[in-house]
Amino acid sequence: MRQLIAGNWKMNGESGALSTLLEIRKGIEAKTPVADVLVCPPATLLARARQVVADAFALGGQDCHPEPNGAYTGDISAEMLRDSGATSVIVGHSERRRYHSESSALVAAKARGAWRAGLTAIICVGETELERNAGSAREVCSRHIGQSIPKAANADNTIVAYEPVWAIGTGRTPTLAEIGEMHAYIRKCLAQLLRDDAEGIRILYGGSVTPANSIEILALENVGGVLVGGASLKAAQFLEILSHALAR
Ligand code: PGA
Repeated sequence: MRQLIAGNWKMNGESGALSTLLEIRKGIEAKTPVADVLVCPPATLLARARQVVADAFALGGQDCHPEPNGAYTGDISAEMLRDSGATSVIVGHSERRRYHSESSALVAAKARGAWRAGLTAIICVGETELERNAGSAREVCSRHIGQSIPKAANADNTIVAYEPVWAIGTGRTPTLAEIGEMHAYIRKCLAQLLRDDAEGIRILYGGSVTPANSIEILALENVGGVLVGGASLKAAQFLEILSHALAR
């Protein structure tokens, strides 16, 4: 199972940011990575990003509507993302769950929409600080998994991202032991939910990943890669994190 180093640009990046993608491409062409690489820029950049990136690495969307088209002003379908150059899409990111009140049922519908369009769904799960302090991190993740991951998920169409909400953009991360424990637990939940189809599903860690902490995080068992926010906006940092991926 190759690791995946994925960048989530969130609502950052206009035309000028295409040069960052070019830098990442050059870095990858200079040294073939042992991991898969994905960057999810804003949807407005996807089509141009495709030209810049060529096939050096993959591009993804950050969200999609469950339906392929229709009267949904402002929304973007998985088919549109695919048409613009995406091969995957993040669904259920905690910022969507929080700022757009997305339920797990909606996240599951979005994952099915992604599959319909032929995209890989990167489904995010993770507890808030309050939930962790209350000792319910496992329970929250198990609920997110049960309700956000449709039963037809498998290693070809789905990637799971464990992103503790309190670690996103805060510079704080769980301890390595905690990450290892949660990934092992998520793997167990996936096996219970999907049986044999859980085999090989990559589980990414996300939340304040940096070049420095990525060495140890990527070395953990059950960590199938990382989902990088802030540090993916800088080509040098993203490439450094990529250099820490392990051949698995
Ligand atoms: P961060 O974001 O790396 O800036 O903490 C991660 C994410 O939200 O995917």
